[in-house]
Amino acid sequence: MLSLIRFYADRGLRVAKAFMQYVWDEGGRKYIDAHTGHGVAFLGHRNPAVVKAIKEQLEELMVLGHGFGARVVDEGLDALSKVTPGWVTHAYLLNSGSEAVELAIKLAKRATGRKGLVAFTGSFHGRTAGALSLTHNPRYRAPFEPLLPGVRFGRFNDPGDVDKVIDEGVAAVFIEPIQGEGGVRPATREFIRAVAERAAEAGALLVVDEIQTGFGRTGALWAHEAYGVRPDILLAGKAIGGGYPVSAVLTDEDVASSVRSGDHGSTYGGNPLAWAAVKATVNVLIRDNVPQRAAAAGEVLKKGLKARLRGSRLVRDVRGAGLMLGVELRTRPNQVLRCVQGKGVLALKAGATVVRLLPPYMINEEDVEAVVDAVTGCIEEASP
Ligand SMILES: Cc1ncc(COP(=O)(O)O)c(C=O)c1O
Repeated sequence: MLSLIRFYADRGLRVAKAFMQYVWDEGGRKYIDAHTGHGVAFLGHRNPAVVKAIKEQLEELMVLGHGFGARVVDEGLDALSKVTPGWVTHAYLLNSGSEAVELAIKLAKRATGRKGLVAFTGSFHGRTAGALSLTHNPRYRAPFEPLLPGVRFGRFNDPGDVDKVIDEGVAAVFIEPIQGEGGVRPATREFIRAVAERAAEAGALLVVDEIQTGFGRTGALWAHEAYGVRPDILLAGKAIGGGYPVSAVLTDEDVASSVRSGDHGSTYGGNPLAWAAVKATVNVLIRDNVPQRAAAAGEVLKKGLKARLRGSRLVRDVRGAGLMLGVELRTRPNQVLRCVQGKGVLALKAGATVVRLLPPYMINEEDVEAVVDAVTGCIEEASP
């Protein structure tokens, strides 16, 4: 047997199966999943509607060369149009968030004829070379430099820094409405609006990365809409495939019409199974009022955490929106993460000190209570 190349610490848990908000280990023990494979299983594990759509698609058409048409592609595009902002006229599917970021970089360079790129401190846009160039964390970047030239980082949530980094040489400005990996840090309204205004003024495209926040996760269909800004390119990933690996680049006619044949491609991007998964995911999103349910469940979860953690010496902050929540500690979160796993709850970290919770939308009252008990109990145990 070969060994895995290890990029992640071993969690000490072997998963045997999963369904909706629950995961079972090989010993049959059940866990509430607030990790959801880094936020992917927002519609739950093996959501029956998604499984059915993929199975049916498998019986019909599994591989489709680019340039050929198929009903499932038309139906997927039609489904996406029901859940994308009105300005979105074009979509392209890829297989991962990082790939969507790579395409956005190319589209922005093509549409503007410029080379500069801007992102912000604390950002995470992925780990492929282009996406890593826009990811701020030096720990991820430093060993692999030189990365893309012409990238500048502005200070996140500092509207005063925006004019300094966005100028007429910039092709695109990349921003997450709530930084996920960076520590569950929401952008302020003032900041996002200043970024959008300055980008428009300088003729730079605004690329909103909703790979983690999109598709209802934050209690709104798209997190950026609450800020009243209009991106030029919107990126989705994780939840959008209902567990199948899919990302989407969504844009308008101006940007889409700037590309030339051969500018981009992906052997697997937009394969029939991916389109079938996206279509089923959209249907579940609409049928189950997923954003509203995420908002309601998230509110109860956040309130519960806040109430029980008030006054805790180990806790700096409880924040986030919908079912994308973070508890910022005054220490590394590893001990608390191990402890909650021991109590039957899976969670993940964000940044250096944040316990991040990304449960699926169907998490019920009992589950929420159990998550609050586990997280607050473990923080108490870890408190000095
Ligand atoms: C905001 C954001 N952008 C991009 C990515 C990269 O996505 P992937 O890991 O699918 O390449 C992530 C992944 O966590 C993300 O949260």
